[in-house]
Amino acid sequence: MKRRIIMIGCGVVGQGFLRIMDDKKQLLSSKYGFEPVLVAVADKLKGSIMTEDGLDIPTFLEHVEAGNSIDSFQVEGAITGLDSMETIRQANADIMVEVTYTDIKTGEPAATHIREALKTGESVATTNKGPVTLHFDELCRMAEENNVLFRFEGVVLSGTPVFDLLEYCLALNDIKEIEGILNGTTNFMLTKMEEENMPYEDALALAQKLGYAEADPTADVEGYDALAKIVILSNVVLGGNIRPEDVERVGISGITIEDIRKAKEEGKRYKLIASTRKEEGKIVASVKPEKLSLNDPLAGVGGAVNALTFKTDLSGDITVQGAGAGKIETGFAIMIDVLNIHREM
Ligand code: HSE
Repeated sequence: MKRRIIMIGCGVVGQGFLRIMDDKKQLLSSKYGFEPVLVAVADKLKGSIMTEDGLDIPTFLEHVEAGNSIDSFQVEGAITGLDSMETIRQANADIMVEVTYTDIKTGEPAATHIREALKTGESVATTNKGPVTLHFDELCRMAEENNVLFRFEGVVLSGTPVFDLLEYCLALNDIKEIEGILNGTTNFMLTKMEEENMPYEDALALAQKLGYAEADPTADVEGYDALAKIVILSNVVLGGNIRPEDVERVGISGITIEDIRKAKEEGKRYKLIASTRKEEGKIVASVKPEKLSLNDPLAGVGGAVNALTFKTDLSGDITVQGAGAGKIETGFAIMIDVLNIHREM
């Protein structure tokens, strides 16, 4: 079945998603009966295009990856120059992919795009943490009222499964507590500082160069990125209703190589740990550096890897570990949401 897809934002994650959707075209069709048609793309800086018959993804990607504007992609009869909101309203799409930049403080512009898409009758797949951190209840309610789906598998661990795992494999379990390493940049930095005596600034510069860090790396090193993820887990998984300001937050900017060396002498290792639990009906959540003993499973998670442990009543402790960022990994998170929306429609 053909489904009309639009994509708002056309950066690294969006391009990763389009690459996967094109590479897996045959499989999507033969195994899942899914024929996605990319009818519009709009990006605040790169321009927009809308075309009834769909864009040829490989040539479109080649055009954008070469640094050209979206408006200058040549397709007969295409409409260019629409802004994101006009694109959402006019494209008559089944699914909107929202992959604009993340603003954890306001959730914008993604939240406005998502509200408009849901109102217009489009299901939504996003990896944008902002709207899910700040407006989870409202957006789920809007999706239900408009009889469409709202999915965000990649907001916590990018392509490593979290919500689908809980929804299907761990259904019926009471999740009492969640704890993990939710930021790749800081875990990478702490590993480099310990293993190679690399100064803090050099480790951060390397994390930025490798593309792990947020546009403003303060979000990583001061714990705001992990905080957004633990707010999402608290509200979506533990059923809480907390805001970012309810979470105790300490980043890693105060940790020196000397602190790390001393911890090592004690047989311990610093990790930026995010945790949340239900305590007498209330959610208690925090993000802070902790000295873990070396036999703690989270102490063994090195580099830009993320890990998350769910403490469940039926299945014991379940830990998932994997990439928490990356063009293809995060693009895959969008792809799996889009495929699951197709399967549930
Ligand atoms: N900057 C984030 C990290 C990217 O380092 O984990 C994924 O949210």
